[in-house]
Amino acid sequence: MHYLDHAATTDLRPEAADEWLRVAQTTGNASSTHGAGQQARRILEESRERIAAVLDCDPIEVVLTSGGTESVNLAVQGLWRARPAGSDAVVLPDGEHHATLDTVAALAADGARVVPVRLDAVGRIPVAGFRDAVAGGGIAVATALVANNEVGTVNDAAALAGAAAEAAVPMHLDAVAALGHLPLSFRAWRGEARAGSGLVALSVAGHKIGAPVGTGALVVARSARLAPLLHGGAQQRGLRSGTQDVAGAAAFAVAVELAESERAAESVRLASLRDRLVSGVLARVPEAALLGDPDPEGRLAGNAHLLFPGAPSESLLFLLDASGISASAGSACQAGVAEPSHVVQALGRTETDARSVIRFTLGRTSGDADVDALLSVIGDAYGRASGAGR
Ligand SMILES: Cc1ncc(COP(=O)(O)O)c(C=O)c1O
Repeated sequence: MHYLDHAATTDLRPEAADEWLRVAQTTGNASSTHGAGQQARRILEESRERIAAVLDCDPIEVVLTSGGTESVNLAVQGLWRARPAGSDAVVLPDGEHHATLDTVAALAADGARVVPVRLDAVGRIPVAGFRDAVAGGGIAVATALVANNEVGTVNDAAALAGAAAEAAVPMHLDAVAALGHLPLSFRAWRGEARAGSGLVALSVAGHKIGAPVGTGALVVARSARLAPLLHGGAQQRGLRSGTQDVAGAAAFAVAVELAESERAAESVRLASLRDRLVSGVLARVPEAALLGDPDPEGRLAGNAHLLFPGAPSESLLFLLDASGISASAGSACQAGVAEPSHVVQALGRTETDARSVIRFTLGRTSGDADVDALLSVIGDAYGRASGAGR
C-alpha cells in the first residue's frame, strides 16, 4: 500500500508504542498518594515536562487531552463560556477545521455572534483582516490555524497572536496540522500579552506525529479564564477532570521529542519529495493545478493539494485506492458522498472545484516508491474520473 494521507493520521512510532506498552503495564493512578500512585505521577509529570519543552511552554500549562478535537473544544468553548459580561463574539477565520467550525456553530446556537475573517487566494489568514476583526469590540475569543490542514498554507501565527494581544482578546491557535512540521513556541507567540488575553491556548494531537490516537494536549496559559468541559476529580488545574492517561502521556512525550529532533531534516526531505510529486502530477495531468501557497516556504513540507478539473474527488480516490494508493479529498465524507471542501471554496473557488480536489500528504515513512506509484497511475485515473464527471 502507498499511504499518502499522513495528515489524516500517521504511523505509530515504534519507540512510542514500546513506551506506551511499558508504562501501560505498570499499575497506579497518578492521583493516588501511595507509592504506586506516586510512581505513576512521576512518569506523568516527566512526560508533561518533555511535551512542554517541545511546545515551549511551562509544564503546568500542558493540559493532556484525548486529541485535537477535544483540545479545540476545550479552548473555544471554554474561553467563550468563561467570557466577561459584554463579550459574546467569536472571531472565526474561514477554512478552519470542523472541530472549530462546528464548536462555534454550537456556541452560535447558544447566542455567540460570529465575526468571520476571509482568507486570501492561497488560503492564508490576512493579518490585517484578523486585526480588524479582533479590534471590533465585544470579542470573547479569537481562533486561528497555525497551518491549514487541507491546503497546507502556513499562517503568521506570531502576527495573529500579536493582533489579539494588542486588542486584549483571548486567542486560541489550532496547531494540530503544524505539530512536527513547524517550530511552535507558545512562549514567544504569547509574548508580553496582558493576563488572560493574547495567545492563551494552543491545541495539538499526538496521532499526527506518531503517538497513539487518543493522546493530545491543550496548552493553557496560567492567566486564562477557561470553563472546563468535564467535571469531576479536578485533575489538571480543574480544566480536565478524569484519571490521567499516564501511558498515553509517556508515548506522546517520546513521539513529540523524536518529531522535533527530526523536524529540520524531515522538512527538507519531504519538501523535495512533495516537489517531485507535484511536478510529476502536473506533467501527466496538465489540467491539474496546485492549490494553496505555491511558495514552498509558505506551505507544509509534506502537503500537495491538487485540483483535478472535471474529476469528482470520490471517483479519483476510488480509482487511486484500487491501485493501492491512499489519499484524501481533505474534507469529511458523509454517507459516502464527499462534501465540497469549505477550504477550497474559501480560496474563492467554485463548488465544482471544491468537489474535484485531492490532498496528498507525506510523512516519516513516505519515500520515492510512494511517489512513483502515484505517478504511474494518476494520468489514467484522471482520464477515467474526468470522463465519469462529464
Ligand atoms: C487542524 C486540525 N485541527 C483539529 C483536528 C482534530 O484532531 P483529532 O483528529 O486529533 O481530533 C485535526 C485533525 O485532522 C486537524 O487537522
